[in-house]
Amino acid sequence: MSRATADRRPSFSYGRAVLHHCDCLEWLRGEPASSIHAVVTDPPYGLSEYSPEQQRKLRSRRGGVWRIPPAFDGAERSPLPRFTVLTAEDLAALDRFFFEWGRALMPALVPGANVVVASHPLVSFIVAGALARAGLERRGEIVRLVMTMRGGDRPKAAHEEFAGVSVMPRSMWEPWLLFRKRLQGRAQDNLRRWKTGGLRRPSDDKPFGDVIRSAPTHKSERELAPHPSLKPQRFLRALVRGVLPLGEGVVLDPFAGSGSTLAAAEAVGYASIGVERDPRYFALARSAIPRLAALGSERSERERSERRAGTVRPGRGRSERGRREGGRAGRGRAPAVQS
Ligand SMILES: C[S@@+](CC[C@H](N)C(=O)[O-])C[C@H]1O[C@@H](n2cnc3c(N)ncnc32)[C@H](O)[C@@H]1O
Repeated sequence: MSRATADRRPSFSYGRAVLHHCDCLEWLRGEPASSIHAVVTDPPYGLSEYSPEQQRKLRSRRGGVWRIPPAFDGAERSPLPRFTVLTAEDLAALDRFFFEWGRALMPALVPGANVVVASHPLVSFIVAGALARAGLERRGEIVRLVMTMRGGDRPKAAHEEFAGVSVMPRSMWEPWLLFRKRLQGRAQDNLRRWKTGGLRRPSDDKPFGDVIRSAPTHKSERELAPHPSLKPQRFLRALVRGVLPLGEGVVLDPFAGSGSTLAAAEAVGYASIGVERDPRYFALARSAIPRLAALGSERSERERSERRAGTVRPGRGRSERGRREGGRAGRGRAPAVQS
């Protein structure tokens, strides 16, 4: 697809964020060379869970690769995709897709651009291998330390017999693969010319670390952006801020979902571009991006007015919940979440 055709697709902008409604492979093929300075993305981990067929099953609550948990005590947990059901052909398709995606991405990146791709321990080795073959340089992994309720269970229907056994480890982290396009010259040369080639420190005396403490996405965010794979602002803001070493350039999320990465970029003061193929999620993102980006700032505004009205005790800043969720990162300021 040519740039002109891609530009006729619907798009939406808010602040410095632009979201396109189309397939990211088509979009990338029309993108000018050396125009993207970093990628932060959360693609479909097993590829098939966001196919039209599996999304139809999810919406009609018929399962497929999505595990639909039963309602318990009136509370309903979110559906989760199952990666243990992927066949050898599914894994080969995953490898082909990420190789093709990496190849399509490469020309659009400036030298030294960071590429951060969320994955799952069961399939991350395939995605990482495909991206390395596509020409990206592996730079490690960022660990999102998050305690989910997945895994750790005893064998199904034999709980008592095997009371001391967990079939799978209880998941306590999520890999975010870190790659980059190779540098032109030394890091300092690349930084001067392209503004890329490193990671932004949370503060002058603290290096960017590869473990970021997180929490499952808070209910208040899930209500603003009901996407089955929504990632929390607090985590995304720390990560997105880190991928532009000098705080200059454009961050791309080619699998934008509800637009949470774009919202995080907006909150830390960066320009961003997103691409989302599913019309429902594109529509969702239009309303979610402004609301997610404003999280924290609305809270600070409310607290400022409460303080003015004397309803907040002096010396107390953000509410307990505000402190837990991290608040707005501020233009270029470090969110206080990097561990
Ligand atoms: C794991 S979700 C991302 C969720 C996002 N992190 C959030 O917080 O909302 C992946 C998204 O990629 C979209 N997607 C899948 N294949 C795509 C493609 N080829 N081009 C563009 N979007 C795609 C899916 O519709 C889905 O919304």
